[in-house]
Amino acid sequence: MSKPEIIITPDKMCLLASSWRSDRLKIALVPTMGFLHEGHLSLIKKARETANRIIVSIFVNPLQFGPNEDFDSYPRNIERDIFQLSKYGVDAAFIPTIQNFYSPNFSTSVDVNDLTQGLCGTDRPGHFKGVTTVVTKLFNTCSPHVAVFGQKDFQQAMVIKRMTRDLNWNIDIKIAPTVREHDGLAMSSRNANLTTLERSNAPKLYKGLCKGQTEITNGVRSAKKIQQIIYCFIKENLTEQIEYVEVIDKETLERIDTISRPIVIAAAVRLSKTRLIDNIILSPSNLSTS
Ligand code: PAF
Repeated sequence: MSKPEIIITPDKMCLLASSWRSDRLKIALVPTMGFLHEGHLSLIKKARETANRIIVSIFVNPLQFGPNEDFDSYPRNIERDIFQLSKYGVDAAFIPTIQNFYSPNFSTSVDVNDLTQGLCGTDRPGHFKGVTTVVTKLFNTCSPHVAVFGQKDFQQAMVIKRMTRDLNWNIDIKIAPTVREHDGLAMSSRNANLTTLERSNAPKLYKGLCKGQTEITNGVRSAKKIQQIIYCFIKENLTEQIEYVEVIDKETLERIDTISRPIVIAAAVRLSKTRLIDNIILSPSNLSTS
């Protein structure tokens, strides 16, 4: 078990990454907001498959939270996070402060247009602009060859893929499957803020998506029908505060009418203080089982 090098300043991070690059080492970045769980650890494992130096960034990025969102209550525990990283053989933990990462007159942003419009972009205006801006800064400071993101935030991963392509970064963006609790709830740092009752009901979000998946494998091809089945299930069993239930094209993230190509079924709900999102990807092989 070896502790990762803890790096606080962007300058030091740039120096270390460029020395690794001069030594022809392959760098993977796993960007996180901390309060690490098995989901993050699976991203680290995926990073290790292709790279010989792993950087995990831990930064709760204020730019991606709206004024009434949970920036202040977002769970944090840096000591425990560093202990976890030691167990997974991470080489560097980049933990900038808000002050050293965003200068007082910080006034630049990176924005991806179309992919950020629907889904989480509807209820969280400005959220993706905050994500793409901070990820740009992380890419510039860490100079990764590979960056790994989780499938739970599928829209985020697709937005970052698009940004990387559009800005000609030679970075391989990998998407790792969602890791779930024993009852199906997608792992998320925010789950720590659920009440006991909410925690016991929360897996019904995934259950609703699975119901939709079953209908698709049974032959239903109307996206609207699937959307209604999932929506009703979540409304009856979990909450009426449903932000969206969507059946979308896996590449364009656009709504579809007929299910005939790779799709994602995705949903977001609000429980009292906590917003939950989840999704299932259905590829042609899943579809052909109908
Ligand atoms: O998914 C997250 O944890 C964050 O959005 C990210 C990618 C670390 C950017 O702050």
